[in-house]
Amino acid sequence: MIGLDDVLDAEPRVRETSRHTPVEYSTTFSEMTGAEVHLKMEHRQRTGSFKIRGATNRIATLSESARDAGVVTASAGNHAQGVALAASREGVDATVVMPENAPFAKVKATCDYGADIVLHGVDYDEAAERAHEIEREQGRTYVHAFDDPMIMAGQGTLGLEIARDLPTVDTVAVAVGGGGLISGTATALKGLLDEVRVVGVQAEGAASAARSLRKGSIERLDGVDTIADGIAARSVGHETFPIIQERVDEVVTVSDDDIATAVTHLLERTKSLVEGAGAVGLAAMLADAFDYDDGEVVVPALCGGNIDMNVLTTVLTRGLIQTGRYLQIRTVLKDRPGALESFLEILADHRANILAVDHDRASRDVQMNAAEVELDVETRGSDHVERLLAALREAGYEVEVLS
Ligand SMILES: Cc1ncc(COP(=O)(O)O)c(C=O)c1O
Repeated sequence: MIGLDDVLDAEPRVRETSRHTPVEYSTTFSEMTGAEVHLKMEHRQRTGSFKIRGATNRIATLSESARDAGVVTASAGNHAQGVALAASREGVDATVVMPENAPFAKVKATCDYGADIVLHGVDYDEAAERAHEIEREQGRTYVHAFDDPMIMAGQGTLGLEIARDLPTVDTVAVAVGGGGLISGTATALKGLLDEVRVVGVQAEGAASAARSLRKGSIERLDGVDTIADGIAARSVGHETFPIIQERVDEVVTVSDDDIATAVTHLLERTKSLVEGAGAVGLAAMLADAFDYDDGEVVVPALCGGNIDMNVLTTVLTRGLIQTGRYLQIRTVLKDRPGALESFLEILADHRANILAVDHDRASRDVQMNAAEVELDVETRGSDHVERLLAALREAGYEVEVLS
C-alpha cells in the first residue's frame, strides 16, 4: 500500500508537467446546499484532467532501460492524453492503443501531445489486448490507468494541494472509476489532516467500488452504463481496493440525471465546462447522496473537463429537463380548425416558449377525428412547469410528460 511519503516523493516530479490547480469558493453551490462549498478546479489541469499527474510520476520513475524501450497503454480517454503529454515531456516514446471508433477529437489530441496512435479493436478490452501484445513484442512498459502504486501516488498530489490550500476542509468528494485518484487523494488527505472525510462517488451504472465495499471483496460488473465515460470502469483495482477499504469513509452513487444536472449548473453558474466524471462529486452533494451539515467545508473535486461536444448536447438537454427548463409533452387534440390554437394559447398565457411542434393527424395511436401533438417547450423552472401542466389539465387536456 502506498503511504503519504510516496505522494510527497511524487510531488516534485509531478510539478514538472502539471499545474497546481486552484480551490475556489462557490457562492452559488454554498447557497444551494447550505454547506461551504469550495471547488477543486482540476478540469483546468493540463490535458484537461488529473491523469497527467499519475502518468508523469510513473514515467519519471522508470529505469534507464525502460525509458529507452518506451511505454504503451490503452485508453480512449483522459489517461491516453495524460500518458502522451507526460511521456513527450520526459522524452520517452509512447504508443497509445485506442479503439477503432474512438472520437476523432480524442485521437487527434493524444497524437498532438506526441504519442504514436494504434487504432485497434471495437472497444477498450480489445485495445488493451493489443497494447499488451505490443508490451511483449517491443519490451515497452505498460502504464496502467489506475492499478499501479506510482500512478496512485501521482494522482495523490491533488489531495496534497487541497490539504495545503484549505486545511479547514471537512469533506472531499472524489470520483471513483478504477480507484487510482481516490486512493492517492485519500492517502494524502488522511496523512496530512487529522479529521477529514473522504467520500467516493460513482455513477449508478458503473458502481463496482460501491458494491465491492458492501460485499467485502472485488465485484467485477458484466457491463457499465453511464454518461460519465471517464468513470465507466467495470472493476475497481486489486491495488486500489484495499486502500479504498482502509482510507475512504464511504462510496455513494448518483444517477445520470444527477450528473447532467450538475454539469448544467457548473456551466451556467460558474462558467466551468466539466465532464460527467468530473461533476459527480458536486452531483452527489446536490442530490444529497451523502450527509453533510450546514456550514460544513466540502470540496467536490472537478477532476476533468474533456467532454465530447455531442455528448455535451445530450447532457445539457437532460440537465435542462431535470431543472424544469425544457419540457417535452404529448397530447391528443380534436382534428378541427382552431384546436391547436386554443391549446397553444394556454402556453402563451403562461409565457412558455415553444421550441418545436409535431402535429400528426395520421398517427395510428389516435382516433380518425383526432390529431396527436408533441411539443418541446422552454420553461422557467420546476414551479413554472407545475403551473403550466395544471392549467392545461384544468382546461380538460390530457397531457403526458415525455421527459
Ligand atoms: C475525469 C475523470 N474523473 C475520474 C476518473 C476516475 O479515476 P480512477 O479510475 O483513478 O478512479 C477518471 C478516470 O479516467 C476521469 O477521467
